Amino acid sequence: MPKSVTKVIGILTAGGDCPGLNAAIRGIGKAALGKYGMQVVGISSGYEGLISNQTRLLTDHDFSGILTTGGTILGSSREKPFAKGESEDVSTGEKPAIIHDNYRKLGLDCLVTLGGNGTQTTAFRLSQLGMNVLGLPKTIDNDLEETDVSFGFHSAVDIATEAIDRLHTTAASHNRIMVVEVMGHKAGWLALFSGVAGGGDVILIPEIPYKPSVIARHLMNRARLGKRFSIVVVAEGALSTKDAEEKERNKKKGRKDKNKSKPHAPSSGYRLAAEIEEHTGLETRVTVLGYLQRGGIPSPYDRLMATRFGTEAVRLLAQGKYNRMVVFKNGEVTNVPIEKVAGRTKHVPPDYELIECARLVGTCFGDE
Ligand code: F6P
Repeated sequence: MPKSVTKVIGILTAGGDCPGLNAAIRGIGKAALGKYGMQVVGISSGYEGLISNQTRLLTDHDFSGILTTGGTILGSSREKPFAKGESEDVSTGEKPAIIHDNYRKLGLDCLVTLGGNGTQTTAFRLSQLGMNVLGLPKTIDNDLEETDVSFGFHSAVDIATEAIDRLHTTAASHNRIMVVEVMGHKAGWLALFSGVAGGGDVILIPEIPYKPSVIARHLMNRARLGKRFSIVVVAEGALSTKDAEEKERNKKKGRKDKNKSKPHAPSSGYRLAAEIEEHTGLETRVTVLGYLQRGGIPSPYDRLMATRFGTEAVRLLAQGKYNRMVVFKNGEVTNVPIEKVAGRTKHVPPDYELIECARLVGTCFGDE
């Protein structure tokens, strides 16, 4: 068995679940336990399990048969131990202190965190308290900095694209405008990729505020050309220029964002459909894909990425390289200091090549 600096690791999955989490757990577990003889402690329900000490030692059996399964065998939660309400002083906050204590009691050499922005920001803050951490990028939103792709994203693109394909035939049969709302509160990667792959006529993303009048003109032009149906793909965080300006004003005044998505609030798709009907009089229907995009089996691509990320993490652990996040950059699996990721969001650049390409095939982004 090859030598390893790291003897005991804890693994947790935090934030929204997504396809590929189990494949990543398997990649880490099989390599850590099977190849390096590390002890692998599974922590339940994200950071919540580290606060309430819900943990168990994982065995080889736990890592079998999970490559293709959705969700996470460890469970997840959106527990944020550093959230407001706790002391801002990281050395005295109650939950961080409990976590530190449990980390010590479990005898962990490193905490492996599978998650998105919030998860990796928390991991970084835990590292500031003296714990060793190692992050793996997971999110269907693909909005983690420093990595070209996060696992879960491509499965979600496949699911959303298939949904758009299916809505196409209904739109064509009924001569309707079909609004499809996909996830992506802060970044429009999923809307952009699935929108282009599904041939969306209009794609709206948070990075490009839209004008309802521009969308209406585009849809009416299509109708005049005899194209009597249209597909509009909208990210959940997309905003009209008016709402985007109001959001900016409120932010400056320190006021709450009224458009911040709440689980049961009328979402961007419904707001947009009302605007389209008002401006065009065209019959419009809405489909919100919601959690369907996060469920089910990972795509082969995500299984590969999750396995590559997981095994790379173990190579780093064996060498005692901590406080980093595994990333995929320019076609290679590598790693960066986790502080470069913490507190940041990877937005779609407005001049992104795929946007330019979509504009060339006539896609409207609601801005021109
Ligand atoms: O996983 C990220 C995400 O898909 C976001 O796009 C969305 O805003 C969020 O999850 C909603 O998830 P939940 O209801 O689980 O908080």
